[in-house]
Amino acid sequence: LITIMHGYNVKTLTQFIIERQADFPYATGEFTRLLYHVGVAAKLVNKKVNKAGLVDVLGEAGNINVQGEEQKKLDLLANWQFVQALKNSRECCGVASEEDQEIITWDDELSQDGNYIFCMDPLDGSSNIDVNVSIGTIFSIYRRISPRGTKPTMEDFLQPGNKQVAAGYVIYGSSTMLVYTTGRGVYGFTLDPSIGEFCLSHLNIVTPPDGAIYSINEGNYNHFPEGVKKYIEYCKQEDKPTKRPYSARYIGSLVSDFHRNLLKGGIFMYPPTASAPKGKLRLIYECNPIAFLAEQAGGIATDGKNRILDIKPESLHQRVPIYVGSKNMVQKLHEFL
Ligand code: AHG
Ligand code: MN
Ligand code: MN
Ligand code: MN
Repeated sequence: LITIMHGYNVKTLTQFIIERQADFPYATGEFTRLLYHVGVAAKLVNKKVNKAGLVDVLGEAGNINVQGEEQKKLDLLANWQFVQALKNSRECCGVASEEDQEIITWDDELSQDGNYIFCMDPLDGSSNIDVNVSIGTIFSIYRRISPRGTKPTMEDFLQPGNKQVAAGYVIYGSSTMLVYTTGRGVYGFTLDPSIGEFCLSHLNIVTPPDGAIYSINEGNYNHFPEGVKKYIEYCKQEDKPTKRPYSARYIGSLVSDFHRNLLKGGIFMYPPTASAPKGKLRLIYECNPIAFLAEQAGGIATDGKNRILDIKPESLHQRVPIYVGSKNMVQKLHEFL
């Protein structure tokens, strides 16, 4: 009947996380409820993104965030929406967000009893909001270290990426997708607006070990490390057997560049630059979740020396260089570094 009604066999995100709950050690439903609320926030933000231009969500909000960036209205709206959903879930005791200098915590006992902490980039690719280019949300989930029934501490948020229990992103593009992993592969759900549900569309995303796409902002070329310059020249050489020259594809939204490379194969690079000597992308809510997803799909993510997931974070908004994507492409880059 479901096939006749919808023309395809629907498995919603909610059904899927309940089904997979058994995969989760000490499955108590807490994580299921948390992920369910992330899905609700994603749908609510998607509604605003789809109306951008018609409702007043475009343009600057008029203040500078801790990153020194002009905050966009949609940065703040997405931030507010996800924080509300996480508070309502009662499973999250605190949030680290790109848009907030300090950790967000709550005074009520129920929230302080939450077993998880949440790190997020609520709106990734803000520079693309006003020009209708795809943007996203990136998130990373850890079990807390501090005792339940108390407010979370900075230590809860400075765990290395290899302690993540889950990571994922929403991509608000030609269709809206939620892609996540809990350490057992990468799943993709596509929003069916006609029923308001994220429906399973990619059961097991595996990134090809080789690709023919490289993504980097070559405007910063003069300041790249020598090894990166050599690798870019390698990408541009004619060599049919290795499908070179590769295609240069750069959208300027990490989620969109990463999602395309994840599915098709490719390498994304954000090296140190003059304006960002430690790299631009933030470890806790951009690089760690993306690295977890990349590895779960068979790819690699490094800072040029270390595995991203093994880096011990020192501060909430710490930036690191990142080289992420198809295994053989990242390994080839490392030959030049
Ligand atoms: P955000 O919009 O969350 O601040 O992130 C923007 C990031 C990332 O999405 C993208 O890969 C990168 O900035 C692009 O940086 P450049 O414009 O310097 O290339
Ligand atoms: Mn930003
Ligand atoms: Mn971002
Ligand atoms: Mn952002």
